[in-house]
Amino acid sequence: MRATEVLKKDHAHVKEMFAELEEMSATAGKARQELLDRIAEELEIHTKIEEEIFYPAVQKVSSRIQHAKEEHARVASLLGDVEGRDPASAEFMAGVRELKTAVMHHVAEEEGPIFEEAARLGDPELERLGARLAERKDAVKTSPVQRGVRAVKQAARKIA
Ligand SMILES: [Fe+2]
Ligand SMILES: [Fe+2]
Repeated sequence: MRATEVLKKDHAHVKEMFAELEEMSATAGKARQELLDRIAEELEIHTKIEEEIFYPAVQKVSSRIQHAKEEHARVASLLGDVEGRDPASAEFMAGVRELKTAVMHHVAEEEGPIFEEAARLGDPELERLGARLAERKDAVKTSPVQRGVRAVKQAARKIA
């Protein structure tokens, strides 16, 4: 699968999870929290593999990568904010909507101009990058380091 297809699949998955989260009622605080945790993990891993593998390659054919990285940082910061809120509160959902808007804006830039420019790398290179992304994603997902990072963030949230 081409790198752009691998990343699009992740984008679609995150979009689905946001839609699911927005449907949940305020009484489902714990479920909201768990789903936000899954969204957070997906975003963290996705962002990581883009910055490790996809962006360095696309940087050769696009001038938009620095801006894209700034958007990753903004998404991470919004995520940190919402993770500190009471999942049963209106503030939590306001934060979720703000986060979703930032993610969707970023996704639109990737799937639009950035993927268009990435096409200049050619299909064989995009296929090769796609394989590396998929492999790296599996490795990160199951790595003890990633599990540890998530556990620490969740613990920090409970104390806050
Ligand atoms: Fe992406
Ligand atoms: Fe991205």
